Amino acid sequence: MRFVPFVALAAPVLAQYEAKPPLKPSAKPVEPHSYPPAPSLPGGPPHPPPSGSPSPPADPQKFVTPKELIKLIKLEDLLAGSQQLQTFADEAGGNRAFGSTGHNATTEWLYQTLKKTGYYNVYKQPFVELFTAATTKFTAGGEDVKVDYMTFGPSGDITGNLVKVNNLGCDVLDFPTEVTDQIALISRGTCNFAVKAANAKLAGAAGAAIYNNVPLQALSGTLGAEGDYAPVVGMTQEAGVGLLSQIGNGTVSATLLVDAIRENRTNYNVIAESKQGDHNNVLMLGGHTDSVFAGPGINDDGSGTIGTLVTALALTKFKPKNAVRLGFWGAEEFGKLGSFHYMKTINGTLSGDATEVAKLRAYLNFDMIASPNYVLGIYDGDGSAFNFSGAAGSDTIEKDFEDFYNERGIPHVPALFTLRSDYAAFLENGIPSGGLFTGAEVLKTDEEARLFGGDAGQPLDPCYHQACDTLVNLAHDAYLLNTQSIANSVARYATSFEGIPRQNATLRKRVAEMSRFQARFDDGGHAHHGQTCGAGKHLM
Ligand SMILES: *[C@@H]1O[C@H](CO)[C@@H](O)[C@H](O)[C@H]1NC(C)=O
Ligand SMILES: *[C@@H]1O[C@H](CO)[C@@H](O)[C@H](O)[C@H]1NC(C)=O
Ligand SMILES: *[C@@H]1O[C@H](CO)[C@@H](O)[C@H](O)[C@H]1NC(C)=O
Ligand SMILES: *[C@@H]1O[C@H](CO)[C@@H](O)[C@H](O)[C@H]1NC(C)=O
Ligand SMILES: *[C@@H]1O[C@H](CO)[C@@H](O)[C@H](O)[C@H]1NC(C)=O
Ligand SMILES: *[C@@H]1O[C@H](CO)[C@@H](O)[C@H](O)[C@H]1NC(C)=O
Repeated sequence: MRFVPFVALAAPVLAQYEAKPPLKPSAKPVEPHSYPPAPSLPGGPPHPPPSGSPSPPADPQKFVTPKELIKLIKLEDLLAGSQQLQTFADEAGGNRAFGSTGHNATTEWLYQTLKKTGYYNVYKQPFVELFTAATTKFTAGGEDVKVDYMTFGPSGDITGNLVKVNNLGCDVLDFPTEVTDQIALISRGTCNFAVKAANAKLAGAAGAAIYNNVPLQALSGTLGAEGDYAPVVGMTQEAGVGLLSQIGNGTVSATLLVDAIRENRTNYNVIAESKQGDHNNVLMLGGHTDSVFAGPGINDDGSGTIGTLVTALALTKFKPKNAVRLGFWGAEEFGKLGSFHYMKTINGTLSGDATEVAKLRAYLNFDMIASPNYVLGIYDGDGSAFNFSGAAGSDTIEKDFEDFYNERGIPHVPALFTLRSDYAAFLENGIPSGGLFTGAEVLKTDEEARLFGGDAGQPLDPCYHQACDTLVNLAHDAYLLNTQSIANSVARYATSFEGIPRQNATLRKRVAEMSRFQARFDDGGHAHHGQTCGAGKHLM
């Protein structure tokens, strides 16, 4: 594996990497959005252009300011970083899923790049999790039916008759006796896919197929965890209804193939903290480094990874008052495993010694910040839009993000904390949180098209969790703007946590309970603009 340490900031610095292949031309140009220029903010003399020195000073003398940090955020550096992630995926069979060579390469590169600055203490935190992915094939009555894998499902190569299951298959008694050694056909609804797949196994079925209960949508879900399941796939409602009517006419013979990889894989978080700054008052920010198995994940979440990295590299030119810690999370796509693992290891459980957790004054999450048909979403930290806020101080974090766009005359919309990305680990430990989100598979509304341009009625990211989430699946204007916004907030909190109260144990506990309560109502669905990729697959 070839690791190209990535040094952002200055064209002369980038020039040393010119051997890199040039950016591929955008096959699908992104509609440009034009925004008024940022107002010139009052401030000191302009910062001198960054020097061409290849190794940035590890001990800068000047305190960071928003204005100066923002100036160092360059689109070319963002795209060079995205190109690097694309290369890692290309060299690894097209994805950067956790535990794969593509993900290993991503984490090793982040580690080396940050270490080389001399500015951060960096470590890779290993953890082991079960990885599953599969290729599937389903035929019925001699016809191919498009089906999707249910994460955590077992392998199987089955030939049998399709048998209609009564009701919704939530009770083992719903399965007729003739399902034994055959393939159960079940409607989605009422109970988790895991319950249906486990009941199918209990009833003696050799396999199961679940069809959607909403029109025109593939059914790609998760069983949530390991278990004793029949091999199972999901299909559209239309496919399911068609098969039911065939069953009504007579015996329908089917084949089901699930060829699953199920293995425990070592996976890494990359954690870095500025050597300088107050280590008892720490700003943490990050995003996830793994992609889904289906594609390279250049928007999801290559964009948040590189936005965080480019900001972190820019910060090396300055001195922070508060320490800045970076969290590049692994295995988010399998249920935010990396961030939760990390919080556990610093006793983020509200049970052990809470000293380490108490040092984290705020967490900023960046998961999908350059969706092609974007909205500019800011997590609703004050609960004004969705009646669910984070820990006290999350309101300030939201407002500070809003100010950035307001000062530039740029619209923004609130995004719901669904607890479906890595901020959940922090909210569930009562840590004030916020972040940016430009949207996944949800369709753009007319109102959003009016605010942000782009295509109403089309997904905010048409390549969400697909092979086409490549280098051309990025809105360059949103990418740059949102990374400048990251820089703005980072410089702000690296200077002061004014407006973000220090949490005490009582407060942390209360918010944690609220967050967990809220999380219980989340079926893994994507109804709101809070949806992100994390554990984004439906459980039910
Ligand atoms: C990723 O790195 C780990 C630890 O070095 C190693 O055990 C694993 O084999 C690597 N995986 C791949 C797919 O390269
Ligand atoms: C079921 O049989 C009816 C009557 O023969 C026929 O019209 C219909 O097309 C058949 N449906 C399927 C799905 O084969
Ligand atoms: C993964 O590791 C766990 C814990 O050690 C073990 O119980 C499980 O059987 C392993 N799974 C696989 C597929 O190897
Ligand atoms: C976590 O808590 C346990 C028990 O209080 C303590 O022994 C351990 O040192 C703590 N770990 C950290 C990282 O603070
Ligand atoms: C907001 O949430 C709180 C706590 O969950 C609940 O008691 C209250 O009724 C909600 N308010 C509205 C307007 O939905
Ligand atoms: C925690 O903070 C809240 C709000 O500032 C305060 O009302 C409460 O007394 C504090 N509790 C403890 C145990 O310090």
